Amino acid sequence: MRTRFTDLMGIRYPIVQGGMMWVGRAELASAVSNAGGLGMITALTQPTPDDLRREIDRCRTMTDMPFGVNLTILPSVSPPPYAEYRKAIIDSGVKVVETAGYKPQEHIDDFKGNGVKVIHKCTAVRHALSAERMGADVISIDGFECAGHPGEDDIPGLILIPAAADKVKIPMIASGGFGDGRGLVAALALGAEGINMGTRFCATAEAPIHPRIKQFLVDNDERSTNLIFRKFNNTGRVAKNSVSDEVVSISQREDAVFEDIRPLVSGAKGRTSLETGDIDAGLVWAGQVQGLIHDIPTCDALIVRIITEAQEIIKDRLARLSRI
Ligand SMILES: Cc1cc2nc3c(=O)[nH]c(=O)nc-3n(C[C@H](O)[C@H](O)[C@H](O)COP(=O)(O)O)c2cc1C
Repeated sequence: MRTRFTDLMGIRYPIVQGGMMWVGRAELASAVSNAGGLGMITALTQPTPDDLRREIDRCRTMTDMPFGVNLTILPSVSPPPYAEYRKAIIDSGVKVVETAGYKPQEHIDDFKGNGVKVIHKCTAVRHALSAERMGADVISIDGFECAGHPGEDDIPGLILIPAAADKVKIPMIASGGFGDGRGLVAALALGAEGINMGTRFCATAEAPIHPRIKQFLVDNDERSTNLIFRKFNNTGRVAKNSVSDEVVSISQREDAVFEDIRPLVSGAKGRTSLETGDIDAGLVWAGQVQGLIHDIPTCDALIVRIITEAQEIIKDRLARLSRI
């Protein structure tokens, strides 16, 4: 399945595994890349830039295929040393980066100046156009369905993807809510040249998280998410559990401030959930696509299934419709 995106990235299938805090490690990134997709290591999961260098080296021992690194740029009073993480990525010879978040210009400039292709992930057409102007090579447009930060506009993929495709000239992949071949065909029909998936890849054999969390994603359905941080203009979509329910309930108080929820939402607690399988230890980031996840396959089986299903839909179901 060739698109402008697969040609640009030198990969077999137009399927990307987006950056995921605590999950985007070498095990998962290499499994996705070995299956013909594009795996991503998540830079900030590594405590220091040197740890990131080692993780990239480790991934290289697990795959000969192209893989990328996600660099998430968060507004913060004490930000991580972004320039040093960026240098670690460039020095390591990684050829593609997924940037996400605020003000990516200096990162895009440096990556591009050093021959690294940039996929910029964003949640609004206006941000996609500004990333295109900044020199990004690919836009990953992330709809309201997605796990993580869907932005504040609440535009689902069915509108956001074609609205972006009407204006963005560089290749674009669609993100948020994708988990099967039907979604891939829909994304292609809406004007994207591939898909990016997060939650679906958490429920795979190689995802480095506790089996109970994978089963939790399988047992959940499309209603099993909460929107948090809305009040603080930094909306996040996470799985519904006792912690995210409590965050929602505290946030509904008129006088609630971030300090009231801070103890519940720490990254360390989320990590504990993922690693120990204690579903209610912290936030578990997951999207509405949980409603389409029914098993825990290997990445290879998942990607083969998505491509096979997509090809059947295109060649059989849609071709039959066009003959009517
Ligand atoms: C557990 C988890 C952690 C995530 N962490 C990040 C992150 O650190 N940076 C980022 O850009 N996106 C992050 N995301 C978002 C994904 O990269 C991707 O954009 C999103 O999951 C797509 O929506 P989907 O889950 O419906 O496939 C995360 C998603 C999940 C499920």
